[in-house]
Amino acid sequence: MAERLRVGILGATGTVGQRFIQLLEGHPFFEVTWLAASDRSTGRHYEDAVRWKLDTSIPAAVRSLPLSPATPGEAANPAPSIIFAALDTDIARELEPQFAAAGCAVISNSSAFRMQEDVPLVIPEVNAAHLPLIELQSWRKQSGGFIVTNPNCSAIGLVLALKPLADRFGIEGIFVSTMQAISGAGYPGVPSLDILGNVVPFIRNEEEKMEAETMKLLGTLEGAAVRPYAARMSAHCNRVAVEDGHTESVSIKLRTPATREQVLAAWSEFQPLAQYQLPTAPAQPVEFLAAEDRPQPRLDRMRGAGMATTVGRLRPCSLLDWKFTVLSHNTIRGAAGAALLNAELLMQMGELSGTRAAHSVTAGTAVSA
Ligand SMILES: NC(=O)c1ccc[n+]([C@@H]2O[C@H](COP(=O)([O-])OP(=O)(O)OC[C@H]3O[C@@H](n4cnc5c(N)ncnc54)[C@H](OP(=O)(O)O)[C@@H]3O)[C@@H](O)[C@H]2O)c1
Repeated sequence: MAERLRVGILGATGTVGQRFIQLLEGHPFFEVTWLAASDRSTGRHYEDAVRWKLDTSIPAAVRSLPLSPATPGEAANPAPSIIFAALDTDIARELEPQFAAAGCAVISNSSAFRMQEDVPLVIPEVNAAHLPLIELQSWRKQSGGFIVTNPNCSAIGLVLALKPLADRFGIEGIFVSTMQAISGAGYPGVPSLDILGNVVPFIRNEEEKMEAETMKLLGTLEGAAVRPYAARMSAHCNRVAVEDGHTESVSIKLRTPATREQVLAAWSEFQPLAQYQLPTAPAQPVEFLAAEDRPQPRLDRMRGAGMATTVGRLRPCSLLDWKFTVLSHNTIRGAAGAALLNAELLMQMGELSGTRAAHSVTAGTAVSA
């Protein structure tokens, strides 16, 4: 059996934490050996602490793992190489640097460090070229640890659809209106009396995050910083009574005109990870559906095992050039799956060997690499 790296999960009991547990079951590169959440959970076995909400069983290998205090000193000995972090922003701002300083590769879902100049904000298919920023981080220089972030759950789906078009035609303007699932607010999330039979046209800081993150993701690494992509963008974010899957209505203005066939070709030929063998990467990152009423969250969110962005309804826009619909799974492609794909890419690029604990486990027995 191939050696696997030890990984820990911060926020393991939450909405995104549960997805990590699910997606990491039987993973060929990584083995979950350490879990942490809040003080409410510390000391309990995972199956007793978690309110498991997924439609698969809790993996046997983690059921009786204990929840540790969320400090690097408490990380199991030998310590995990990678910490997948699924914490609220304020807590992430405090805890994630502690783990990076202790030599861990911290792969973060929160917005705490996404826009920090020396922290890469990465979607592997879009801007893997930004990963060298980790070499500028003080944690990397001192302990080998670093922080890499994945984007806001609405920005990921949108940017996957935009990137092939930005590369071929350039994009001048983006208008997007989202219909975001309630699981995007974590558990227990939006009260049922606020969302059932309703639409809430406000998600705090979401529009600002979408606009800023989209420009950083499509930007260019120049020396010690990313030069943001130069396009105008307006985002409207709404919460709707859908369990999982964010839907987005998008209009774009291109720099160079493109026909419908050229737009479709840009999406279908988008295969930027072909050189890597990444278990979580979807075969087709951007899938176009020709049916006039697709994509829909209930029917299409699990395409590519929840890692594909689905696009449909491509048609001319009378204000800009083209308009279309985008759908992506917010807790898989928009969160845990995105972080896992970043970790797989970092591993294939050899970036995990410098971390504190390049410890591996073979056939369930701990050994040091
Ligand atoms: N949900 C999504 O679709 C989504 C998508 C992209 C990004 N994100 C981001 O991912 C992060 C986590 O979101 P979520 O939806 O999973 O939230 P959540 O369901 O509320 O889960 C929060 C987790 O953090 C733990 N926690 C709370 N206080 C803590 C503390 N002081 N120290 C350590 N752990 C603590 C909780 O543990 P207890 O169970 O012990 O309370 C729980 O495990 C957020 O930054 C969110 O913005 C979420």
